[in-house]
Amino acid sequence: MIPPRFPLAVLPTPLVRAHQLEAVLGRGRVLLKRDDLAGFAVGGNKTRPLEYLLGRALADRCDVLVTGGGPGSNFCPAAAVAARAAGLDCELVVCGGDDWDDGYGSANLAIAAAAGACIRPIGDHAREALDAAIEERAADLAAAGRRPFPVPRGGSTPLGTVGFAVAADELTAQLEQSVLAGGAEPALVVLAVGSGSSCAGLLAAGPPWPVLGVSVSRPLQEITSKVHALAQACARLLGYPPPRPRRLEIVDARGPGFGVASQADRAAARLALHTEGLLLDDTYGAKAFAVLTRRAGGVRGPVVFWHTGGVVPAVAALRRRVLGGRM
Ligand SMILES: Cc1ncc(COP(=O)(O)O)c(C=O)c1O
Repeated sequence: MIPPRFPLAVLPTPLVRAHQLEAVLGRGRVLLKRDDLAGFAVGGNKTRPLEYLLGRALADRCDVLVTGGGPGSNFCPAAAVAARAAGLDCELVVCGGDDWDDGYGSANLAIAAAAGACIRPIGDHAREALDAAIEERAADLAAAGRRPFPVPRGGSTPLGTVGFAVAADELTAQLEQSVLAGGAEPALVVLAVGSGSSCAGLLAAGPPWPVLGVSVSRPLQEITSKVHALAQACARLLGYPPPRPRRLEIVDARGPGFGVASQADRAAARLALHTEGLLLDDTYGAKAFAVLTRRAGGVRGPVVFWHTGGVVPAVAALRRRVLGGRM
């Protein structure tokens, strides 16, 4: 059964054909699933898990959402605005010191602050420390008589994963109903993988198409087992059959490091902007799109690039490069 949903996104997000990109790549159909246009603040793919997380928080009569992330997190502003819309307070545990205005992700935290979120830096730059700090803060709030709803960074719980299990059905329906895929099933659906929830949701739904996850922050073994565990737990929660791991491949695209795009990643992002008008960030979109451009030639049939958002850091990085004369 689908859990309670607090609607935020404008769904379905558009599915469009990338004609100019196809011409440059010299291949047949490339489709774009535009979750960057998910329609709530600039939440991108993170709007989807938040619908089910807030649905549960409201059903449980919670009064404060407690979550967190790095200073550049796209989940934090989306969570803060979503909590406000649902009538909940929001506390964000972020790594780094009080100087969270690092000139890069700061616009994201500014959105969160504008939504009224209380931002709590933990003074530790290790993102791995965040989930424990979120639980700790939630326990303190509960001890003070509040009703907190703690969510680990990225919203990566089996419940949050439901957002993308539903999204998988959304894409399948769009492909069936439109002529975009030319009657063929996608040969590959490509998306960026951070905390793993989006990719896991697709897997949980058991879609008829294979998924290529592009890991940007964790080594392969770690992220692969995380995605499978989340997919299984989500499928169980929904009463779906156990997901088939053969539908999923994950590649390690960390390259020069988390949040740092290689020359090839930047060239791919430029291609996306110049052909299809896509704004891709260095952390997620550029790396996933670079993998898509490398793989597209080797597969027969339509490929789908799932644009997961990250528009705020994408614009911040462009601004720095334009001002620095490094386009
Ligand atoms: C723009 C963007 N794309 C992709 C992802 C990865 O999604 P997930 O954490 O569900 O793997 C994130 C995560 O924050 C994101 O912000």
